[in-house]
Amino acid sequence: MTRTLSPKATAPLKAAAAARRATHSSAAARAKSTPPSASSARPKSSTPLSALLNPSFKPLASSSSSSSSSTRRAASHTAMPSTSSVYSTPRSSAQISEEVTEAVAGRENVERLQRLQRDFRSDTFTMPTDAQLLVSLRASRGDDVYHEDPTTAALEERIAKMTGKEAALFGASGTMTNQLAIRTHMKQPPHSVITDHRAHVHMLEAGGIAMFSQATTHGIVPSNGIHLTAEDIEPALQLGTNIHIAPTKLVCLENTLSGIVFPQEEVVRIGELVHKHDIQLHLDGARMWNVAAAEIERRGLNPTSEADRTAVLSDLLAPFDSASLCLSKGIGAPIGSAIVGTKEFIERARWFRKMFGGGIRQSGGIAASADYALTHHFPRLAGTHALARRLAAGLEAAGCRIVAPVDTSMVFFDPSPLGLSIGEICDSLAALPNPISLNANRVVLHHQTSPEAIDDFVAEVERLAAAVPAEKRAAGGASAVKLGY
Ligand SMILES: Cc1ncc(COP(=O)(O)O)c(C=O)c1O
Repeated sequence: MTRTLSPKATAPLKAAAAARRATHSSAAARAKSTPPSASSARPKSSTPLSALLNPSFKPLASSSSSSSSSTRRAASHTAMPSTSSVYSTPRSSAQISEEVTEAVAGRENVERLQRLQRDFRSDTFTMPTDAQLLVSLRASRGDDVYHEDPTTAALEERIAKMTGKEAALFGASGTMTNQLAIRTHMKQPPHSVITDHRAHVHMLEAGGIAMFSQATTHGIVPSNGIHLTAEDIEPALQLGTNIHIAPTKLVCLENTLSGIVFPQEEVVRIGELVHKHDIQLHLDGARMWNVAAAEIERRGLNPTSEADRTAVLSDLLAPFDSASLCLSKGIGAPIGSAIVGTKEFIERARWFRKMFGGGIRQSGGIAASADYALTHHFPRLAGTHALARRLAAGLEAAGCRIVAPVDTSMVFFDPSPLGLSIGEICDSLAALPNPISLNANRVVLHHQTSPEAIDDFVAEVERLAAAVPAEKRAAGGASAVKLGY
């Protein structure tokens, strides 16, 4: 759910944004100064179609051994360059477009991909590439409800290892894996859950916590306006034996929220607090891949290295008893999300998945596509984040207010200082000869967002701003700044 922030409430955001922009400015300048089409150094990370169509091409996991798939994966990773800076260079529209061909996908999909490169409504608006779907053809075709699909099992094993947890479970959607995890933690009423008041699990999962877990949810407003702290949570914990009260059994955090990375020191403090009271900690990590990509870049590691991804994700997820990780957002799997946790927890979640009607029979094809996205699209998030910073810098230079720190793939902006409203900007972007889609002040980028779209977006805001009459600008536009996912 979203909320409107008063200027007073956005003060800490502005301060944090300023500090983070200072940190990011050199990276943003790098992104801006590199011509998008000059990234010929970027590796061709997709498997050539000819290789995929070759009968000797091996599927993701053979039925006899998952270690052979790990070996293949490791081999393909070492073939990629080892510098993270290559990946923070955004790909051009032409490079994005060449991955969906008319010969394989048809004209309509080729044209749709052109539009998706300019669609800023959500990072769910991505398109599986030809290579990604052709990998699905080679996936195993066993029945995963009977636990007999090697490709799905290999993906679960990979995600468990990468996150430093004992086990993982593949599910249809982020909503399903969040609700499954919450249901698995909650044993029997009376019991309650604490979340941020804006949390997706609380506000946007159709009342799932009440329905599936029969629990009360307490949505807490962060006192700093950005993220919850141990000090926010401690007084809200329902402890003791007062029969009027439903005891707290679970705290759910969300990372990112509004594209903002949750400070890890605070996650650790919250983990220590709740575990002291025997309360579990779950993460809605719908965009945890973005957090990991930002952290890999911060540490100067290699996003194509499974070892580096594992080191970072294991650290970030260590405080959590469980986490839900969406595969079909910024990294562009066509479907899927995973829960990670202990072996015992995942076994019980598998039971609930069956009860929810969420067992998928021949899931190998979709698991293979998700695995492909992890290998080939995850490293691109650094480029996506560089584009988000480039957009924020352009909008700010044009006179807009940037409302939230641009840590990952989202930009929240307010054009009211220019005398413009979000509605006017959305309408103008939609009316461009090559239209841009936007429906709110939240701009979301993904691995198929093109640099050309960013530049056209900024140019259009500049053009509109130049045309605003002085008295209208002095009066300011309607400001309706909402922060949400
Ligand atoms: C933070 C967050 N969590 C969970 C979800 C649910 O994911 P899905 O749409 O796959 O159910 C979303 C969806 O946008 C989200 O933004």
